[in-house]
Amino acid sequence: MTTPDTIPDTTRTLPVLPIKNTVLYPYLLMPLSVGRERSIKAIEAAAASEDKTLFIVAQKDGRNEDPAFEDLYTIGTEAVIKRMERTENTIQVIVQGSRRLEVLEAQQTSPYLQARLRAIAEPDDRDTEVDALERAIIDLAGRIQAMSQPEGQIGVAQILSQFPDPLHKAYLMASMLGLDLEKEQQLLEATTRLLALRLMNEFLTHEVQIVELRQKIASQAQTEISREQREYHLRQQMKAIQQELGEGSGEQAEVQELRNRFEEADLPKDVRDEAERELKRLERLPSAAPDYQVTRSYLDLILELPWIKTTEDNLDLARARKVLDEDHYDLKEIKQRIVEQLAVLKLNPGAKAPILCFVGPPGVGKTSLGQSIARALERKFERMSLGGMHDESELRGHRRTYVGAMPGRILQAVRRAGVRNPVLMLDEVDKIGHDYRGDPAAALLEILDPAQNSEFRDNYLNLPFDLSKTFFIATANTLDTIPRPLLDRMEILRLSGYSAEEKTEIARRYLVARQLKDAGLSAEQVTIPDETLRVVINRYTREAGVRQLERLIGQLARKVAVRHAEHGAESVTIGPEAVGEMLGPERFPAEQARKDQPPGVATGLAWTEVGGEVLYIEAVALPGGHDLTLTGQLGEVMRESARAAQSYIWSRASTLGIEAETLRAGGVHVHVPAGAIPKDGPSAGVAMATAITSMYTRLPVRSDTAMTGEITLTGLVLPVGGIKEKMLAARRTGILRVIIPADNAKDLADLPNEIRREMEFILAARIEDALAAAIPGLAERLGATANIRIAEPPREAGDGRPAATRAARAKSDAR
Ligand SMILES: Nc1ncnc2c1ncn2[C@@H]1O[C@H](COP(=O)(O)OP(=O)(O)OP(=O)(O)O)[C@@H](O)[C@H]1O
Ligand SMILES: [Mg+2]
Repeated sequence: MTTPDTIPDTTRTLPVLPIKNTVLYPYLLMPLSVGRERSIKAIEAAAASEDKTLFIVAQKDGRNEDPAFEDLYTIGTEAVIKRMERTENTIQVIVQGSRRLEVLEAQQTSPYLQARLRAIAEPDDRDTEVDALERAIIDLAGRIQAMSQPEGQIGVAQILSQFPDPLHKAYLMASMLGLDLEKEQQLLEATTRLLALRLMNEFLTHEVQIVELRQKIASQAQTEISREQREYHLRQQMKAIQQELGEGSGEQAEVQELRNRFEEADLPKDVRDEAERELKRLERLPSAAPDYQVTRSYLDLILELPWIKTTEDNLDLARARKVLDEDHYDLKEIKQRIVEQLAVLKLNPGAKAPILCFVGPPGVGKTSLGQSIARALERKFERMSLGGMHDESELRGHRRTYVGAMPGRILQAVRRAGVRNPVLMLDEVDKIGHDYRGDPAAALLEILDPAQNSEFRDNYLNLPFDLSKTFFIATANTLDTIPRPLLDRMEILRLSGYSAEEKTEIARRYLVARQLKDAGLSAEQVTIPDETLRVVINRYTREAGVRQLERLIGQLARKVAVRHAEHGAESVTIGPEAVGEMLGPERFPAEQARKDQPPGVATGLAWTEVGGEVLYIEAVALPGGHDLTLTGQLGEVMRESARAAQSYIWSRASTLGIEAETLRAGGVHVHVPAGAIPKDGPSAGVAMATAITSMYTRLPVRSDTAMTGEITLTGLVLPVGGIKEKMLAARRTGILRVIIPADNAKDLADLPNEIRREMEFILAARIEDALAAAIPGLAERLGATANIRIAEPPREAGDGRPAATRAARAKSDAR
């Protein structure tokens, strides 16, 4: 029998009671049921001692029935036996922890374990982190309680508040949570409050996550069950009600309702027959069968498609003209073409609608013109974009046997229109793609073919649908990428970019009014004078069309609207000086043509999808090099025209005054800068020939002159496209003298008046004509052959003078 040591505070010898799976913390009570022989002996020894004290420590492995000292942790708790009760083989005790002790030395193992122990000082550190953690822990504990027992009796927080020491709070919580033994022991061994609280915070957070997860799983299962139950009950009720009313099942009622709708619908006979077959099928299917929904949506489509329904065309030509003029400035030819079409429809209502294709740079009104046509005819308007479409089934739909099959975009558009004669705009036909999934362009061929499209077959619908009354209008930025057969089906109508003057006109007459209206302003409240519009056009936009311009006018309008809303109504005039403040700094300082170019540089004009561009073609001799080097991302056609230019010059070297020696001395490098502009097509031939000639002869090209034209090996200049865009680009950079192919003379008539008035056009039938006009020093040498013709400027109505072109030419010659 041992008695407590004489030095009770620091070291003492006590009986050791190993416990399983848990830890006793200081200050806490714990009931224990003790059955092991040595444990009973240890309790008896303690009970017999003066202060009824023993050492309680966790054993590392709970399954060990006869642990030795190595099987125990070394830190445990000094405990006092508060109550003790014997039963047959066990002793029930209630112990209370008092302080932590550490094993210094094992003293005996029989009849019970006994050890010499040392007290571990109780941590008393305290700082803000401890305070914060303490609060966090209380919070977390509260959350756990709220989640696990929502109707909890006493709040954890309340219990915890009775333990002022944060460490004790942590002990209490750990004992309540039933953590893993390792965690409990870790907490017991914590040397500072901070450490203990950090551990506890971590444990609790983890615990919260687990509880949350558990709850989520449980609630998912719960809703699953309750939904099923609910549906079941509803179904039972419905059945009962139907029986009461003498009706069939729910599915049958639905099919019956569909059948009624079919009876009322206006359908062609074969469609009605097909629908009847599907309805019969539907009747036999339970509504839960996957096919039920598929068949249902199919029948819905049949009901919604405008098999017969059309709108009546308004064929009043005068009114149509008025509508078209109301929406768009100029575009005379196109408007005329549309009015003609109306006349045809008037005379022959059965006439097939033509398939128009509007081609032009972005923002010139292709799409909006389509809308305007629909408005003039009083037809419905629908549009769809073909841009990037790769898959034929996007146009024509998937067979219904596919999961998630849908009708194609054409049928969807017609369904949206609700009539079978809408104006259907197919945007971006030039951007259509094709790959292994089939060629949408081929499908489009059939759709657009008047001989076939009265029986258009969509894979999903699988019934012929009549598209022959649909007015198709395609739009494109370029014709180059449209497959030839498709192109042949369509009537091409070109829209070109607008000059600054035309843009001003469009803005003044259309865009300003529209944008003011959108901003909730009236024309009396805001005035935007032409000078302001010109600043916006020249300094803030660089585009062929007017889309950006319209956006900027909208921006101005909204700025004014804000002012109106804030300061009340007073009419405002937006002067040109206010633009900078309202739209920010100028985006495009005025473009300037390059001046005083060295020999070997010629100014060319390019046409791209988005409008015209000025480009400079540079040629240099490569002494010692050979042949022709071409750089600047040129396309194949452009390379060929450079070769043709070079060959032509070699063949006419003596006429051009180029020594054979110079030709033999080395190669030529031709470069076309401005990498962002896609450069292909033959129209740079004249400019290349001019650049190379200028390089060989060392005579500079006039920098006030730009040129375009294709050339042949024998020196002919062939006509090119995009004349208007090119002239706009030249004029924008201040170049007013342009050499164009003689055969393009007819295009000059389409140019806006101010361009014809200001600019000088030189018509070249042969390269020599172009060279003589472009390279001043060469004109004399070529004198005999050159045959420069200057386009006679058209007389303007009401203007007796032969227009201002002469003056302009005199000016440019003087330079
Ligand atoms: N001649 C015009 N008169 C009045 N408004 C015009 C004119 N040209 C274009 N607009 C206006 O410019 C805007 C842009 O035109 P739209 O959307 O029709 O361009 P788009 O030619 O279809 O371009 P994209 O090739 O990018 O589709 C529209 O608001 C349109 O009304
Ligand atoms: Mg468009």
